[in-house]
Amino acid sequence: MCRNLKRFAVLVSGGGSNLQALIDGVEAGEIKGDLGLVVSNRKSAYGLERAKAHGIEAIYLRGDNISVEEYDKQLIEILRDRQIDFVVLGGFLKILGPDFIRAYENKIINIHPSLIPSFCGEGYYGLRVHQAALDYGVKVSGATTHFVSEVADAGPIIYQVSVPVLDGDQAEDLQKRIIKEEHKLLVKTVKDYCDDKFEIQGRIVKVR
Ligand code: GAR
Repeated sequence: MCRNLKRFAVLVSGGGSNLQALIDGVEAGEIKGDLGLVVSNRKSAYGLERAKAHGIEAIYLRGDNISVEEYDKQLIEILRDRQIDFVVLGGFLKILGPDFIRAYENKIINIHPSLIPSFCGEGYYGLRVHQAALDYGVKVSGATTHFVSEVADAGPIIYQVSVPVLDGDQAEDLQKRIIKEEHKLLVKTVKDYCDDKFEIQGRIVKVR
């Protein structure tokens, strides 16, 4: 059978507000793709509830007490069974191994809440990212979407948006300001991926 729409999965570990932005983007017809599956490594992730509320299959794939290799294997099997074409990491805090990244080479999109290459890499997630930006004293931060490579947060950059840091900001203030922009950036990224707009040349992503 021939499918017109790319089918994608979103991997989440927490609240899933980026997932919600994608659900809304698909339902509004802005993203011409099929959000077919949500997977979480955490049972209590609210993202799983968001998926179910919209009739999207939601799977909890336990992330602790399992080797990276075994997790990759199980995840690949789940995605292949459901004919998933590409994957979005929407606050997925479990490290994926080389087997998974090779199986979906240039087909995994991540969103990170800073202007990469600042405040990124292993150990930089959630509020820690914003705290590190404030501690450094930057005047702008932002968000980045990128393809995932085997080095954490180091794959080809797709889009970035900058957000001002204001006097007196706490990490939570910066997070709130940035996450609003993340939602728009991720929807645009996934929309354009579904519309085949990206061409990857080494580290450079050309937008057609
Ligand atoms: C988002 O800010 C996302 O950029 C970040 O986790 C948050 C998830 O929020 N990801 C990372 O820090 C990855 N290194 P959400 O669950 O509400 O979408």
